Amino acid sequence: MEGVTQLAQRQNAVDQAMAIAPAAQIGDALADIDTPSLLLDLDAFEDNLRAMQALAERHGVGLRPHAKAHRCPDISLRQLALGAQGICCQKVSEAVPFVAAGLRNIHISNEVVGPAKLTLLAQLAHQADITVCADHPANVEALSDAMLKHKASLGVLVEVDVGQKRCGVQTPEETVALAQRIQALPNLQFMGIQAYHGGLQHKHGLAQRQQSCEKAVKLVRKHLEALQQAGIKCPVVTGGGTGSAAFDVASDVFTEIQAGTYAFMDTDYGSLDWGESLAFRHSLFLLGTVMSTPTPERAVIDVGLKSTSAESGTPAAVGLEGVRCIAVNDEHSILQADDPAHRPALGDRIRLIPSHCDPTFNLHDTVIGVRGGYVEAIWPVSARGLSR
Ligand SMILES: Cc1ncc(COP(=O)(O)O)c(C=O)c1O
Repeated sequence: MEGVTQLAQRQNAVDQAMAIAPAAQIGDALADIDTPSLLLDLDAFEDNLRAMQALAERHGVGLRPHAKAHRCPDISLRQLALGAQGICCQKVSEAVPFVAAGLRNIHISNEVVGPAKLTLLAQLAHQADITVCADHPANVEALSDAMLKHKASLGVLVEVDVGQKRCGVQTPEETVALAQRIQALPNLQFMGIQAYHGGLQHKHGLAQRQQSCEKAVKLVRKHLEALQQAGIKCPVVTGGGTGSAAFDVASDVFTEIQAGTYAFMDTDYGSLDWGESLAFRHSLFLLGTVMSTPTPERAVIDVGLKSTSAESGTPAAVGLEGVRCIAVNDEHSILQADDPAHRPALGDRIRLIPSHCDPTFNLHDTVIGVRGGYVEAIWPVSARGLSR
């Protein structure tokens, strides 16, 4: 089996064989960025950050943006600078680059199971205020054992299933029993509950999302009442996402919301009915180059599955009338023009809106911040690939 030294030697040999120039440097014109690349329109991005922060503040609710959407500490630092009270990560390893970048208040909005992860969690808890979710007594025992062993302490939230049918306790009685168990165990502190419903975020109609959100909030209230009757204080109720944020902040149950995609948007969220509610702008784009025009209607670009996710649909080409992205292959995407007069030409540079921002970020080493036609920032997607 290859050891760590051999792996490092092999990587060094690759690095020395040929340096690949970065896709862009600060100050480059948009036209000089190599493709495929991930671009962030900084004006739209900053507008989105301000809009969500203002929404949360208007209702006296905290904003704890989810970093699973981007995995990029520079983005979280900008959200904190505008008033976010902390961030969420979905995985323990995902949190590591954020702690390294100086973030000190991280909620891991997920259950953490297994010795290696619990050790890493304890190491992180030495450096930052970390909270996690739990939905099983055996898991909270393991969390406590790990914290004791590593002389760390940890905040724990009971995850409640409010309709997503994923993780989470099913009844208010379970919430009370688990909260009591957490309170009784050394080196753990019961912090509250998490009530996140991913499915409702993506319901198309605004009214449908509102109804689903109200149903979820009703359930949350039952769990809160049970905790109150048992004499257990519940300082934090966390949850919510981009699709439900407007309702979550007005619900009177959430103390903080966990939206992530709002900063970027994608075609999936962009296609929802937002009515008169908050409008977030598309700030995230893939930049590609037309590498082949084999027929009068077809243009092939260099953005494939290794640069964009496609499980939520194909990305959408921007500003091209009557041109649709009809397929995404490993290294190529196919653009089809209804009218040959509108087909992009060889060498044209195409901007696309990804269909799902989270897995798309995870395919890129960096995100290139652009403003006024120039590169203003290049931020590493430091938690790329950190899914343990
Ligand atoms: C637990 C949790 N909270 C918050 C979010 C953020 O949701 P969105 O990116 O849709 O705003 C997610 C996304 O999947 C999530 O899993």
